[in-house]
Amino acid sequence: MTKVLVVYGSRHGATRGIAERIGDVLRTEGLDADVAAADQVRDVRTADAFVVGSGVYMGSWLKEAIDFITKNQASLASRPLWLFSSGPLPGSSASKSADDPLADALGPEEGPGSGGRKKIAELSAVTHPRDHRVFLGAFDPNDAPRAMSERLVRMMPASKDLLPPGDFRDWEAIEAWAREIATTLRSPFEVVG
Ligand SMILES: Cc1cc2nc3c(=O)[nH]c(=O)nc-3n(C[C@H](O)[C@H](O)[C@H](O)COP(=O)(O)O)c2cc1C
Repeated sequence: MTKVLVVYGSRHGATRGIAERIGDVLRTEGLDADVAAADQVRDVRTADAFVVGSGVYMGSWLKEAIDFITKNQASLASRPLWLFSSGPLPGSSASKSADDPLADALGPEEGPGSGGRKKIAELSAVTHPRDHRVFLGAFDPNDAPRAMSERLVRMMPASKDLLPPGDFRDWEAIEAWAREIATTLRSPFEVVG
């Protein structure tokens, strides 16, 4: 059976929830799926395909998710790979573009604020993901900040406009995407394993 490894970087759990839902759908669709935190994956050799996602903070993926791709880029490049970002909070004053979801999450392709996006572009150029989907995220202001940068942003007077509270994860869109992945992997024209 085709085995998919779903790997996530998550600071507050929203991305973990998305990864778990993707794993559930893949299993329902008849595939074998393991879901693991990016810094907990020890061996990628048994996986036939990968889905890798991260929460986005200040325009960048979390370090553990970037490190996972960097460390395993040869394996990821040789098998089907899908990426997702869990980011934008609707109504955030940080939203950058209505028609470019990647810009909305990771910022512009060039110029100031493009570092996080360039890093993903660089890793994508080596690993050739089939798709990079951006899903709306979640922000709970009662969940304590877990990084100094996050503490600082939350202290800014404009933070209420930057970080609208709520769980905006679009489960329908997430499940539909996971079903698309399953359909691709079940295709007789797809050589996996
Ligand atoms: C301090 C802070 C900075 C954020 N920066 C971004 C950002 O640059 N782009 C974006 O799309 N989302 C941003 N977000 C929203 C998070 O990516 C979103 O809440 C995500 O779902 C969190 O995932 P996690 O709970 O798995 O860590 C930010 C959230 C916080 C708290």
